[in-house]
Amino acid sequence: MKCSMLSLKAVTLGLCSFVAAQISTFSPRGQSEIFYSITVPETTVSSGSGPIFFQIQAPTTLRWVALGQGTEMTGASIFVLYSSSSNVTISPRLGTGHVQPRHNPDAEVSLLEGSGVQSGIMTANVRCDTCNYSANSPWIFAYKQGASLNSDSPEADISIHDDFGTTSIALSKAVTTSDNPFLEYDPRDPSNQPSEIGGQAEGGAGILIAHGVIMSISFVILFPSFGLLLALPLRGVVPKVHAPLQVFTLLLVIAGMGLGLKMGTDGDILDNAHPILGLIVIGLLILFQPAMGLLQHLHFRRTGGKSIFAILHRWLGRFAIILGVVTGGLGFRLAGIDRNPKTPKSAVIAYAVIAGVMGLLYMAVQVLRAVRKHAEQNRDPHRRKKSDGTAESGVNGQNAR
Ligand SMILES: *[C@@H]1O[C@H](CO)[C@@H](O)[C@H](O)[C@H]1NC(C)=O
Ligand SMILES: *[C@@H]1O[C@H](CO)[C@@H](O)[C@H](O)[C@H]1NC(C)=O
Repeated sequence: MKCSMLSLKAVTLGLCSFVAAQISTFSPRGQSEIFYSITVPETTVSSGSGPIFFQIQAPTTLRWVALGQGTEMTGASIFVLYSSSSNVTISPRLGTGHVQPRHNPDAEVSLLEGSGVQSGIMTANVRCDTCNYSANSPWIFAYKQGASLNSDSPEADISIHDDFGTTSIALSKAVTTSDNPFLEYDPRDPSNQPSEIGGQAEGGAGILIAHGVIMSISFVILFPSFGLLLALPLRGVVPKVHAPLQVFTLLLVIAGMGLGLKMGTDGDILDNAHPILGLIVIGLLILFQPAMGLLQHLHFRRTGGKSIFAILHRWLGRFAIILGVVTGGLGFRLAGIDRNPKTPKSAVIAYAVIAGVMGLLYMAVQVLRAVRKHAEQNRDPHRRKKSDGTAESGVNGQNAR
């Protein structure tokens, strides 16, 4: 029965018993040097559970190459292969949404004989005891070009893939009786008929970009600019311009938070500093900032003066913006600066520069206003009180963030 899969030549040479395996092999489209091969022991097929064997073979011009069981990254059981100091490392990981998959110490995989690096080719012959058997089983693959990782640690930092794809493999038709079915296996041999599987662009990357863009623009540009509007000596600037624009920005930020929470729960990374700080900042803004502003505005309408709410509103606003900008920096780090094509170093530099310019502009305006006010007071000690009563911005301008 096993001989039916083999070439006539192998049969006539009497190799049937020696190479008694059906092995399913595929390559990513356009990557004819990367081979993923899978086969299942007869006992696993007949009982419906048990070990599964797979081989990953790829040139050392790849930084890492991975095979995983699952239909998508999230929740998949992934095996990442990279070169080590003297052999290869096979690192089992749990797939998360949009960040690097974490090492999974519960997975049981062993490297078998025949693994190693030879003439620029990495080979991992693997027996997996925690993989799941099903007659038709979904698998994913990914790889990254670049200098060899050369790490013995299963927790090495890996950068995001160049390409990623999914396929389904009929495991019930890939059966072996061997304990190390890949020892003599050459996936390059045309008789093994490797199939070609197309990659696909990673879905969901748009979420990461949208989250980053919305949050960066809101905290680095909109919140501080709309705070600075209060420096304009215009009547009604607070209720007609400042308040509506800040509420609009807060709504943008809430939408951005929704995207962030989606990524955080998908990726199971809500315990990271970035989402924690982000939730604190947005929570403070939602709970207190509009209320403080409104209370001050009501107080102003009643008395024409400044209340404790004005001071709280101003300082909470400043504090939240600074913390928000820092949280954004941590977000870039979480996404992987330069390790992720969606967060290039140039984006981080632009973010830092714009935040710095905005900070300087903000301080310059505050200093100018203080100087002007001081001068006015020196000229006419009674004037201050009068101007306070005529335009809310005269009071609240200082109170603005
Ligand atoms: C790599 O490690 C495996 C498992 O320990 C071993 O069987 C294999 O011979 C090693 N390869 C080399 C080239 O040392
Ligand atoms: C196998 O199935 C179990 C239970 O559904 C799951 O916890 C485990 O992650 C699966 N393993 C793989 C390799 O998909």
